Amino acid sequence: MTKLKWGMIGGGEGSQIGPAHRLGAGLDGAFEFCAGALDHRPDAGRAYGQTLGLAADRSYGDWQEMLAGERAREDRVDLVTVATPNATHFEITKAFLEAGFHVLCEKPMTMTVEEGEEIVRIAKSSGRICAVNYGYSGYSLVRHMRAMVARGDLGAIRLVKAEFAHGHHADAADADNPRVRWRYDPAQAGVSAQFADCGIHALHMASFVIGQELKSLSADTVSCIASRELEDDAMVNMRFDGGAVGRLWTSSIAIGRQHGLTLQVFGEKGGLRWAQEQPNQLYWMPLGERLLVIERGEAGLSPEADRTTRVTIGHAEGMPLAFANIYSDLAEAIRAAKDGRPMDPAADLYPRAEDGLRSMAAVFAVAESGKADGQWTDARPPMFR
Ligand code: NAI
Repeated sequence: MTKLKWGMIGGGEGSQIGPAHRLGAGLDGAFEFCAGALDHRPDAGRAYGQTLGLAADRSYGDWQEMLAGERAREDRVDLVTVATPNATHFEITKAFLEAGFHVLCEKPMTMTVEEGEEIVRIAKSSGRICAVNYGYSGYSLVRHMRAMVARGDLGAIRLVKAEFAHGHHADAADADNPRVRWRYDPAQAGVSAQFADCGIHALHMASFVIGQELKSLSADTVSCIASRELEDDAMVNMRFDGGAVGRLWTSSIAIGRQHGLTLQVFGEKGGLRWAQEQPNQLYWMPLGERLLVIERGEAGLSPEADRTTRVTIGHAEGMPLAFANIYSDLAEAIRAAKDGRPMDPAADLYPRAEDGLRSMAAVFAVAESGKADGQWTDARPPMFR
């Protein structure tokens, strides 16, 4: 099978998320890294691209140059990943979709709900794939949780509890460090800091696993470090459209917590518990029985889990492999579109522009509810009301 061609914007030398994308996209051999505009400094981006093996004429100085260059080529990239800082996602994603490229955009997809709606419309009218990198939804056992809920193992879902609480911005003495400060500055970060950065991962995962969309929420937001304008901690109560209740805690001042993404789902017939830092085990407690540990890679799991596992049972698979599962879904989606055939349903799970939009509506609802002492607030984008 010929490889698909892949390009990247952002993710330059020293960036946080660039390496995970390069590992993820390259892992299964479906994509070949062909083009990039990797850095906000054109010369640094060109040079770094070439050290990663890009041809000199496809290691671009900026995304506009990459758009023009790739558009003019017969062998243009099939998929572009946007891994730049948040405020640039909208214009880059929009421009590449409009030019006919499939896009995987980092979260948050946009800075406003209106921009999110525009991206959804453009993706639809262009017929291009617009995915959003809720990469943790790529974990094999997260996919298995979703399959268990969908086939009714838990019965009706009563409660979902999601956390994304870490302690990496807890040092008051470091709060003015420019690398930390901008995140809590509305002029640069928008209406929300911690919820927009981490809370939306927990929300997406909760919604993805239970197969329900968020309807309304009540948020208690707080800046534990007084100099911060935006929240560094939030507790959000949620109502989903299928009747489930949700509780979400996100924090950046939880000293001692490292990554801190966890999910618990409680239904009429049992409960599930999973944690990102031990992603190869899923705890399943059927009502009235004993606690079971489901291991990634064991026999008898769902097709969704089987498809997203690579290494033998007992050897850990981690975050770049979860990202690789999003890329593998996208490779299947792009190939199915090229061949004019339906895609494998077990791969049709990558997060969409609609998910990016729903997150943005939730971000604004959290900010509004937080300012109004936790008033219950509609969290749906106007487009989906
Ligand atoms: P970073 O600051 O570590 O790196 C950003 C990179 O983008 C740098 O190499 C910079 O030179 C480059 N860049 C900036 N502006 C650019 C432009 N206009 N054109 C081309 N390159 C440009 O940022 P980080 O932490 O890697 O975050 C990037 C994005 O990824 C953010 O939107 C963030 O929210 C998201 N992210 C997602 C994660 C996930 O789990 N899905 C985890 C971490 C970050």
